[in-house]
Amino acid sequence: MNAGIPDSHASIYYYDSDYPSPDGKFAENFDEVTTFQGLAFDLQRYLEIASKVNGPILELCCGTGRVAIALARNSHNVVAVDLSSGMLAQFCSALKSESPEVAERIALIEQDITTLSLSQRSFPLAILAFNSLLCITDFHAQCAALKSIANHMAPGGVLLIDVVNPLKLKLQGDSIPTPFFTRKNTHNGNTYTRFAMMGSIEVDQRQRLHGWYDEIDSEGVVRRTPYSLYWRPIFRFELDLMLQQAGFSIAKIEGGHQQEPFTAESPRMFIHARLNI
Ligand SMILES: C[S@@+](CC[C@H](N)C(=O)[O-])C[C@H]1O[C@@H](n2cnc3c(N)ncnc32)[C@H](O)[C@@H]1O
Repeated sequence: MNAGIPDSHASIYYYDSDYPSPDGKFAENFDEVTTFQGLAFDLQRYLEIASKVNGPILELCCGTGRVAIALARNSHNVVAVDLSSGMLAQFCSALKSESPEVAERIALIEQDITTLSLSQRSFPLAILAFNSLLCITDFHAQCAALKSIANHMAPGGVLLIDVVNPLKLKLQGDSIPTPFFTRKNTHNGNTYTRFAMMGSIEVDQRQRLHGWYDEIDSEGVVRRTPYSLYWRPIFRFELDLMLQQAGFSIAKIEGGHQQEPFTAESPRMFIHARLNI
């Protein structure tokens, strides 16, 4: 889900099946792999933190609404921003199954967060969930995004950033693609298997994530769809400096979504950054 990819890209089409919510359309999609993916406990952590905050929440890179809808169901007002019209179209269709009260709590905005410009500029809490910062694949653009977010927050406001711990990544990449998981396609109920591999880390710290989807239709015919995208993993002290440059200080780093201490072995870096007063 990098800027500029078409709405028809497989990573957009399969998003809700690949990255399910606990109460998603097919309960079996929320399988044991979701823990490895970093999806098993993040929603409950966001709800816990949001419950201590007064005022609207800014969710950057909101995608199809996994986080924003959970927040709105729990009475929070959310301004949700993404640059992908394909992801936002799926967000809009998900909102049709929510109650009008939940839908009314969400304002959807199509914008690039590296040049974010909203009329509201004093959010007490902002969220960059699930590797979203890494989907911006250029160092300077990642810095610009953090600066733009800072410009929209109240002094002392908290920005939550959830990214993979790069110390756990295979920076040399994989030699062959392997089956990642088998799930139900949320659009049609067909079973599909995603085969995934990572390229080696490049000089600009980008890493290619690619593979293919094999979906079996009702006639038993297999349809193969390739995908390819990039992320730019960020190291802990690099992110610390990037945040300082944008006007934030790291208040806390956790190693997951259950308040685990951050160690070299942690799967995630869950960062609470506070905007300097
Ligand atoms: C990994 S998804 C996360 C979606 C959602 N927050 C979640 O937790 O399921 C990353 C999202 O970031 C969006 N994105 C990438 N670059 C962006 C940018 N520069 N501005 C706004 N959104 C961006 C993509 O369109 C995609 O929806």
